[in-house]
Amino acid sequence: MIAGKSVLLIIGGGIAAYKAHELVRLLKTRGIRVLIIMTQAAEQFVTPLSLASLSGEKVHTALFNLTDEVEMGHIQLSRAADLVVVAPATADLMAKMANGLANDLATTALLATDKPVLIAPAMNVRMWRHPATVTNAQALKNRGIAFVGPDEGEMACGEFGPGRMSEPVEILNKIISMLQPQALPLSGKKVVVTAGPTREPIDPVRFISNYSSGKQGYAIARAAAKLGADTVLVSGPVALAPPAGIRVIGVESAREMLTACEAELPADIAIFTAAVADWRVAEQETDKIKKSNGSSLQLSLVENPDILATITSHQLRPEVVVGFAAETQNIHVHALEKLNKKRCDFIVANDVSRGTGVFGGDMNAVHFISRSGIESWPAMSKDEVGLMLMERLAGHLIPEGRPSS
Ligand code: CTP
Repeated sequence: MIAGKSVLLIIGGGIAAYKAHELVRLLKTRGIRVLIIMTQAAEQFVTPLSLASLSGEKVHTALFNLTDEVEMGHIQLSRAADLVVVAPATADLMAKMANGLANDLATTALLATDKPVLIAPAMNVRMWRHPATVTNAQALKNRGIAFVGPDEGEMACGEFGPGRMSEPVEILNKIISMLQPQALPLSGKKVVVTAGPTREPIDPVRFISNYSSGKQGYAIARAAAKLGADTVLVSGPVALAPPAGIRVIGVESAREMLTACEAELPADIAIFTAAVADWRVAEQETDKIKKSNGSSLQLSLVENPDILATITSHQLRPEVVVGFAAETQNIHVHALEKLNKKRCDFIVANDVSRGTGVFGGDMNAVHFISRSGIESWPAMSKDEVGLMLMERLAGHLIPEGRPSS
């Protein structure tokens, strides 16, 4: 039961502190008690009064406060909750934690606690990438401190990159998974997702590829991680940032993608969204092919291995395997053929004809196909397709402890 658990939320001084309101609200709706410590800098961004009203608890700010010490001493406070959460975790707070400083109530509680600690870093991208912060983050990870984020995106300072604090709902999910490891639908499950195009080299400077942006695969991987899965993204070359909290294995050719997927077995769920090049050049030239006056060039192509079909007939076949079918005509017929031919459990089919905007776009309208029927889902964002799909697949996993036959 998650209700009745308690969290000590330490709010650092950064613009992301305003998201603490929403986080407190979300935690309260789950029945989680929220004790709060604010740093002095945090008080520049949010007020103790607003947080006290939301949490229904006294908000602690000063280390040496006689009234507080009588009611609940600072050591007691650091141990009163089931989990300590630092959000936002500023570069300054992370540096103090990494070096064991204790010069205010927040850092003293962090040094004195014997409870698991989760931090949600938030800072300017240059600060996040500074070698000092990189070293501090690594030291904290080595010490077993859990991280959520930071996410990539536009920041309050106008710069772009990793440094944005994760959204409150993501922090909530991470808190739930730490308070109750079995609480999320995919906790303890491993999900492998392929995404993007593959690149098949012709010579050292040319390749065969396709228009896949990788967006749908990345959205599915993010959704799997949100639902608690240990998520691996095997990705061809794309212009997308690696999502936080997901292991990304970058590959180029179809054969590299297959090797990477096989190395990730066993897994519980595998989803093949990649637009794998069907053919590769039979003999890759080691030197750049030169053109000679007006002559034409013939390339001899051979078929690439089918990654999806190889994994469904693998002795470590994941429990649930999903293929994608990018079609431009007779979508249902072709998708059903693929389901049977490639022996997967489900096919997600979409119309990628020019004009639908699916390739490279942010929206998708898909058909979810199983042996028992076809569902046409309404047009929605690729993120929403990802979440709907992962929630659906989680329901198809055989519950732990129940035999599969
Ligand atoms: N796929 C794969 N390996 C390949 C080709 C496809 O893993 N060499 C996977 C894709 O990731 C997708 C599914 O198979 O999940 C169907 O891909 P698609 O390109 O639509 O089908 P093909 O088998 O290539 O058939 P066709 O191109 O003739 O439609």
